[in-house]
Amino acid sequence: MISRILCLQLTLIVCYSSAVADSSRRVLPRVPKGFPIPAIPMDAPLTPEKVRLGRYLFYDKRMSVNGAASCATCHCRELAFTDGRGRARGATGELHPRSAMTLVNVAWNRVFNWADPSIHSLEEQALKPMMATNPVELGYSAIERSFLETTRADPIYRALFPAAFPGDPHPWTTANVAKALADFERTIVSGSSPWDRFHFEGEESAISEAAKRGEVLFFLDGGPSCFRCHGGFNFSDAASSSEGARTSRSPFHNTGLYNLAGQFSYPAGGRGLYEFSKRAQDVGSFKVPTLRNIAVTAPYMHDGSAVNLSEVLDHYASGGRTIVTGPSAGVGHDNPLKDSLIHGFRMTARNKADLIAFLESLTDEYLLGSPELADPWGSSPTASTPDSHSATIGGSTRRP
Ligand code: HEC
Ligand code: HEC
Repeated sequence: MISRILCLQLTLIVCYSSAVADSSRRVLPRVPKGFPIPAIPMDAPLTPEKVRLGRYLFYDKRMSVNGAASCATCHCRELAFTDGRGRARGATGELHPRSAMTLVNVAWNRVFNWADPSIHSLEEQALKPMMATNPVELGYSAIERSFLETTRADPIYRALFPAAFPGDPHPWTTANVAKALADFERTIVSGSSPWDRFHFEGEESAISEAAKRGEVLFFLDGGPSCFRCHGGFNFSDAASSSEGARTSRSPFHNTGLYNLAGQFSYPAGGRGLYEFSKRAQDVGSFKVPTLRNIAVTAPYMHDGSAVNLSEVLDHYASGGRTIVTGPSAGVGHDNPLKDSLIHGFRMTARNKADLIAFLESLTDEYLLGSPELADPWGSSPTASTPDSHSATIGGSTRRP
């Protein structure tokens, strides 16, 4: 029995990792070693045509109210699909209260955004930046009709929409825009970092001795204990199939970043899960972000308030951040809602350098330069066919 299950699993892994389209044009994304198979909604099979359409949309500034921004403005490939800002800036210049998140491995997410339990899929998530008015991100709601008319007339979209939604007589809809964007995002896969090569391909020298020591600290229970929240293949308990998902432990935690005086210990716009639940105990609880490519996604935390990894580590080592002056002053260590795993630990300069070396070993340079995730509008839009794209699905497929 066990061998039959193993055999079935192996068959699944083989067919998923070969990234081929079956007769119904459904594409199975590349699943890196050590990753489980992602849960792709059965009613929305991934197809190369939808992924291709989604990629054009992701980079199309005509989706914004003033032609100034696309999804890629806040989610740049070279920065692991973040924007380098502390707080994201919308098409009209309005500041978002939170930082743009990385999009790597979002196909495996079980919760979305920094702390939004109301979103259940990437399709639903895509509509948020499109429709949001406070603040405006793309401002798509104001130009929805004219954009859909544009897509009907545009020579590229005129072909891409019907190809992506065969059998749909009127495919030029906002719901289909969101579906295509979601499928493109599912191909942003990061699993080829030096750390992966060290662990899964036996490349002893892929990571430094310092990174190896840092990894030991990362997994040290009672010490840094990082893995207790940033565990599993995606270094986040907010990924499906993670330890957290199996034990149904909440993926939202308060790390003691703030401890403001008054009713709320976190600043407005950054109260985390509380903003949805309105339960006092949820103030300051945020989703555990992935640590893959963390070295290129500064500044850190939901509001970009930690400038570099050194500041993040100081925060954890002291069991919560102390802010001495200004409107955010307070001793995070004493925040009564802080997760008990943020207990602080002794960190020497060498420990810190080792932990940083470990975090740096999670940068996947194949992803950051991946041609199949690049802006397709720059080159001739007809240069790559849907078929050639299907063969390279998955952001960080290693080239021979
Ligand atoms: C103005 C900058 C901005 C634009 C434009 C933007 N985003 Fe985002 N994105 C953000 C911010 C900020 C967050 C975190 C949102 C929150 O916590 O409320 C985010 C979060 C996300 C997430 C959640 C990731 C996770 O791990 O849960 C996804 C997916 C995403 N964006 C996709 C998109 C798509 C698709 C588009 C285009 C339709 C887009 N974004 C446009 C700034 C932006
Ligand atoms: C109790 C669970 C928990 C533990 C333990 C924990 N983290 Fe975190 N981590 C989080 C949460 C939640 C956030 C987001 C917090 C926020 O933005 O307010 C986060 C954010 C981060 C960030 C910033 C990510 C980004 O995209 O901005 C880094 C880096 C990080 N953690 C590294 C570590 C390291 C290294 C350790 C061990 C020393 C550690 N974490 C221990 C839960 C945890």
